[in-house]
Amino acid sequence: MERELKVSREEVIFRLDHVTKIFGKKENAVKAVDDVSLEIEKGEIFGMIGMSGAGKSTLVRTLNGLESVTSGKVFFEGKDLTELKKKELLKIRQSIGMIFQHFNLLGQRNAVLNVELPMKIAGIPKAERHAKALEMLKIVGLESKEKAYPSELSGGQKQRLAIARALAMEPKVLLCDEATSALDPGITLEILDLLKDINEKTGITIVIITHEMDVVEKICDRVAILDYGRLQEVGKVGDIFTSPKSEAAKRLVYPARDTANPFYMTDRRCFRVAFDGHSSRETIICDLVSETGEKVNILAANTKSVGGIGYGQMIIEIPETEEGAALVLDYFKRRGVFVEEVIDRKAGAEEKKEAV
Ligand SMILES: Nc1ncnc2c1ncn2[C@@H]1O[C@H](COP(=O)(O)OP(=O)(O)OP(=O)(O)O)[C@@H](O)[C@H]1O
Ligand SMILES: [Mg+2]
Repeated sequence: MERELKVSREEVIFRLDHVTKIFGKKENAVKAVDDVSLEIEKGEIFGMIGMSGAGKSTLVRTLNGLESVTSGKVFFEGKDLTELKKKELLKIRQSIGMIFQHFNLLGQRNAVLNVELPMKIAGIPKAERHAKALEMLKIVGLESKEKAYPSELSGGQKQRLAIARALAMEPKVLLCDEATSALDPGITLEILDLLKDINEKTGITIVIITHEMDVVEKICDRVAILDYGRLQEVGKVGDIFTSPKSEAAKRLVYPARDTANPFYMTDRRCFRVAFDGHSSRETIICDLVSETGEKVNILAANTKSVGGIGYGQMIIEIPETEEGAALVLDYFKRRGVFVEEVIDRKAGAEEKKEAV
């Protein structure tokens, strides 16, 4: 179901134009972000995923000017952040909230005073900021914890408090850098639900940095995949799940290695089959056998909920005979199922480039 947002989804809020960030000089130089160009739309939940050191934090910090760029440009609502004066940049930062893995709360202040802090810095009078802080605590479900100190809160509650503080200035954007990485899976889901709820109610743009595909699948509309500072792929999460193009995307999307029956260890040709929730794995395989008379061996399989839609995928060994393989491929294509050949991933070999 298409979500109703208060803002037009087509409007671009951030535009990165050939952004490169190099730390250090000469032999110590590290290219943390390498020629990244992408656009983030107003109102969307945009994920950035990649392994440790991929440049995610550096890239997200360029979005609010916390990190200067070595070359390229960063536009926020059409304004080039790299050209702005400090004062103008500070003003823009007020419309971009941020939360972090380790919450960054002030231990000496209680919950309500933590939320009041950015408003205090912005010169908002005490009574007004106190009322606003209480309202924000209620939104994140912490109304009973107004006087509690951060040390008296659980991890999930601390992150809720950080979200309340980040939203106090009514920002247009919320940047989340590994905001759920320190939390249990159950608490992670609660925080992601809260973020999604806030996005739906207010239309705020959310940028989520993570190294977990589960987080992306749970709430992101689109995702950018980063590897060694470079943008590998960007697109709708469902599209990337169904047909990942880059090696980095495939690593994220393919079923985890099944040690009992790893598909990399087979000598036979293997295919990855991906389908949405309209057809179950069992039905597809049963019908395959009855329609083609061919048997396939399932080496790995999983099902996922991507943005609320169920997706499934399997790695299968296909029949050894050419005719058998052709029958099986034709069957999947007729069912509208995405199918591509994969070869020995263990050896690090590339998949055959052409999707079949
Ligand atoms: N201030 C800095 N000075 C020098 N090098 C830096 C600095 N900040 C980041 N780097 C380097 O830039 C690269 C990208 O770092 P970054 O923190 O952006 O990665 P990341 O994707 O956020 O990783 P993680 O998942 O571990 O948080 C790394 O090689 C890192 O060592
Ligand atoms: Mg990081």
